[in-house]
Amino acid sequence: CRRQLLPCDGGFFTQTEHLRERLPDGMKSPSMKPFYITTAIDYTNAPPHIGHAYEKVLADVMARFQRLNGREVYFLTGVDQHGQKVQKSAEKAGQSPAEFVDGVTKHFTALWDKLNVRFDGWAATTDDRHKRVVRAMLQKLHDCGQLYKKSYSGFYSVRQEQFLTDKERGPDGQYGEEWGEVVELEEENWYFRLSDHVEWLKGHIRSHPDFIYPPHRANDVLNSLEGTPQDLCISRPIERLSWGIPLPFDERFVNYVWFDALSNYITFAGYMADECGNEGLPKFETIWPADAEIIGKDILVPAHAVYWPIMLHALGFPDDQIPKLVVHGWWNVKGAKMSKSLGNVIDPNVLSDTFTPDGLRYYLMRDIATGYDADFSDERIIMSYNKELAGGLGNLLNRSINMAQKYRSGVLTPGDYDDEINQALRQTVAEAVPAYLEKMSGWDIHEGIAAAWRI
Ligand code: ME8
Ligand code: MG
Repeated sequence: CRRQLLPCDGGFFTQTEHLRERLPDGMKSPSMKPFYITTAIDYTNAPPHIGHAYEKVLADVMARFQRLNGREVYFLTGVDQHGQKVQKSAEKAGQSPAEFVDGVTKHFTALWDKLNVRFDGWAATTDDRHKRVVRAMLQKLHDCGQLYKKSYSGFYSVRQEQFLTDKERGPDGQYGEEWGEVVELEEENWYFRLSDHVEWLKGHIRSHPDFIYPPHRANDVLNSLEGTPQDLCISRPIERLSWGIPLPFDERFVNYVWFDALSNYITFAGYMADECGNEGLPKFETIWPADAEIIGKDILVPAHAVYWPIMLHALGFPDDQIPKLVVHGWWNVKGAKMSKSLGNVIDPNVLSDTFTPDGLRYYLMRDIATGYDADFSDERIIMSYNKELAGGLGNLLNRSINMAQKYRSGVLTPGDYDDEINQALRQTVAEAVPAYLEKMSGWDIHEGIAAAWRI
C-alpha cells in the first residue's frame, strides 16, 4: 500500500465507470457495437512522413479514448500496395513490385511499432484475402449489370491515377499542379455505373448531416456533384498496369486502384469472408459500419465521399450501413506542402528519437485542430516537450511523488480539506472532466488536451 499514491476510491482518472457516467448521451449505451475505426491505407511508394504519423496517431488516440470509456474497439490500418505509382517506383529501384512494397511496408510497420500505434487489423492490399474479396465484389457488380466496357479517350493524371474532366481544369484552362503529369490517352476499359447513383448520394448527404466530419466538408462534396454525372473507369489494361488485381470476368484487365484500395475497409472487417474462405477476420455483421474512417482532405472528393458510398450502395448496403468519414487537415512546413523535390519532408523516426514517441504523439495532437491544416515547427515541438511535458506534467508528477514520500511516508488518504485552494481545485477538476470527454468525443483532441491542462 505504501506505493499506492492514488486512493482507490474518489480518484478521478482511475475508474472507467466513473468516466462513463459523465459521457455525452450518445456514447453511454453498453449494448453498442464495437467502435470500428479505420485510417487511409498509405501508398507504399515512399517511406512515411509526419502526415502519415499524424493520421495513425489520431486514430490510435481515439481508439484508446473509446477503450478508456469501456467500449470495445476494432482499429484497422494498413498499406495500399498496388497501382501505377508503386509499379513505377519499383522499376526505378530495379526491383520487382512485390519486393519493393515489402521493403517500404516494413518502414510503416516499424514506425507504428515505435510510436505505439496499436491496431487490431492490418489491411495490406496484396493480402490474398483482400484479392478474393475484391474479385468477388466485382463479380457481384458485374452480375447485376453495374459494370460495362467501352472505349474512351481523354486526359489522365498519372499522379492521381484518374482520367480528368473539364471540371478539373483551372481558370486558365490548364490542369493544376495538384494533378502532376497529365497525358492524353485512348483505351478500352471497364466502367462502373456511378452516374446511376449520384441522385441517391446527394439525398444521402443531405439527410445524414453526420456523414462527414467536419460537416462543412459536405458542401465540397455536393459542389463536386454538380453538372452531368460521369461513370467511373475501374480498370487498366494489363499491358499498362500489371501490378493489380485482375478482373474475374476479363483477365486482360486489372482493377483500377481506388476500387481495390477503398474496399480494404470491408475486406478486413470480414465482408464475404465465408464465400471467399477468409479466416482470421472479425464477424462483419458485428462491427460494420465503420464509426469513423479517418482520411486526409485530399482524398475526400471524389474517392471517399463519392466512389466509396456509391460502391456500397450499388452492392446493396442500406443507408444506415454507410460508414462515417472524419476528414483531417495537412501538416505543412513553413507554409509549404511537404515534398521530396523541396527537400522538406519531415521524418517521424528522427522526431521520435529526439523527443520520445510520447513526446511526438503529444505534439501531433496538441498543435493541430482536427479538420484544419497546421504548420510543423521545430520551435513548437521543443516548446511542447520542454515547457509542457517536462516543465509542466513531469515536474508536477515528480514533485508530487517526492513530497508524498517525504512528508506523508508515501501514503495518501482522501481528505475533506475545505479551504479555498482545495475548493478551487475540486471545482476545476469537476469542470475539466466533462469538458475533456465532450471535446474528445467530438474530435476536438487539442481542446480535450487543453481541458486536462486546466487541472
Ligand atoms: O492517399 N499531412 O495514400 P497516401 C497530413 N493510398 N496528412 C497527410 C499528409 C500531410 N502532409 N500527406 C498525406 C493515399 N497525408 C491512398 C489512400 S485509402 C483507401 C487510400 C494523408 O500515402 C493523406 O491525406 O498518399 C491520406 O489520408 C494518408 O496520409 C495517406 O496518404
Ligand atoms: Mg497522397
